[in-house]
Amino acid sequence: MSAADDEKPGVLAGRRALVTGGAQGIGLAIARALTGGGARVTVLDNGASIDGREQDDAVLKQAASVLGEGARVLDVDVSDRDAVRAAVDMAAGDMGGLDIVINNAAILRDGFLFKLDPADWDAVIATNLSAAFYVLSAASPHLRAAAKADPRYDAGRIVNIVSSAGFFGNFGQAAYASAKAGLMGLTRVAALDMARSGTTANAIAPFGATRVTESIRPANDAQAAYKEQALGIDAAHVGRFAAWLCSSAAGDVTGQLFGVRGRELFLFSQPRPAARAVAPEGGWTAAALNDLFAGEFRESLTDNQTDLEYFNTPPVI
Ligand SMILES: NC(=O)c1ccc[n+]([C@@H]2O[C@H](COP(=O)([O-])OP(=O)(O)OC[C@H]3O[C@@H](n4cnc5c(N)ncnc54)[C@H](O)[C@@H]3O)[C@@H](O)[C@H]2O)c1
Repeated sequence: MSAADDEKPGVLAGRRALVTGGAQGIGLAIARALTGGGARVTVLDNGASIDGREQDDAVLKQAASVLGEGARVLDVDVSDRDAVRAAVDMAAGDMGGLDIVINNAAILRDGFLFKLDPADWDAVIATNLSAAFYVLSAASPHLRAAAKADPRYDAGRIVNIVSSAGFFGNFGQAAYASAKAGLMGLTRVAALDMARSGTTANAIAPFGATRVTESIRPANDAQAAYKEQALGIDAAHVGRFAAWLCSSAAGDVTGQLFGVRGRELFLFSQPRPAARAVAPEGGWTAAALNDLFAGEFRESLTDNQTDLEYFNTPPVI
């Protein structure tokens, strides 16, 4: 299959999609792949700065012109639940329904646990996690309506953009990693709750050169090398895979966690018990736990590598 097969007009013809944070970066790459496949797309974006403190609506105009006729860009703050509901209903009304929801909008406010301002925690959780719930809460009745109208409906698709920081952890990313881990939980529940409505839900941990990559200030040589490599990763690869997940071919792929790093595609395992032990009659004693952690459990402990350490190999670009 050539790289552009899933983008050829027709694969997503007639599908109606919503992309949050689709005005730039990875969200724009996804919106482009969806319109390239023939879907109609509504982008919800407020032109936020990386930390979400400022807005620039020139970004929205630029996205509208890049995406062209198959798309509409709405100026919406996805952390505002009422604004989200109004925008989702309007988008579904305009497009005649909804099939695809991509939760991609996110901001970054890093700070070590012992320094992070609780207001920054709230802003990150609101934008990177609660917003995805607001969008799904408003969009899922539209997805279910499509399934009610046609019992053979199987075109519903939810793709949540997470981050490897959410399951590896990363220094100073308490809020960001917690929000992304929460979004993974939301993905699993969406896969279950929406299964009967012909809708799949999957998560992608992306890697792609965006303004966020450009903003990395390396603290050492290893980080400088990481940044250099990361700047070469085209976000279009994430767009192509997301578009494939939204196609009919992926109708039985749900509840999964993927990674896309340039031409590399990862399927991640998800936590399941790695070891099991049963307490002696009467419950655990310190001695019994000491034995367990000196033996079987010791061998199964997860290391504490960060995602930057794990993915320090050169990307295939
Ligand atoms: N770039 C990477 O390598 C990378 C790595 C891991 C995860 N991610 C994830 O991929 C997604 C996109 O990242 P990116 O690098 O393209 O980021 P980006 O900052 O370039 O783009 C984010 C988009 O979200 C929008 N947005 C932010 N807050 C919003 C709000 N309240 N309402 C509406 N729109 C809002 C911004 O305006 C922007 O268009 C994010 O979820 C991010 O966490 C990216």
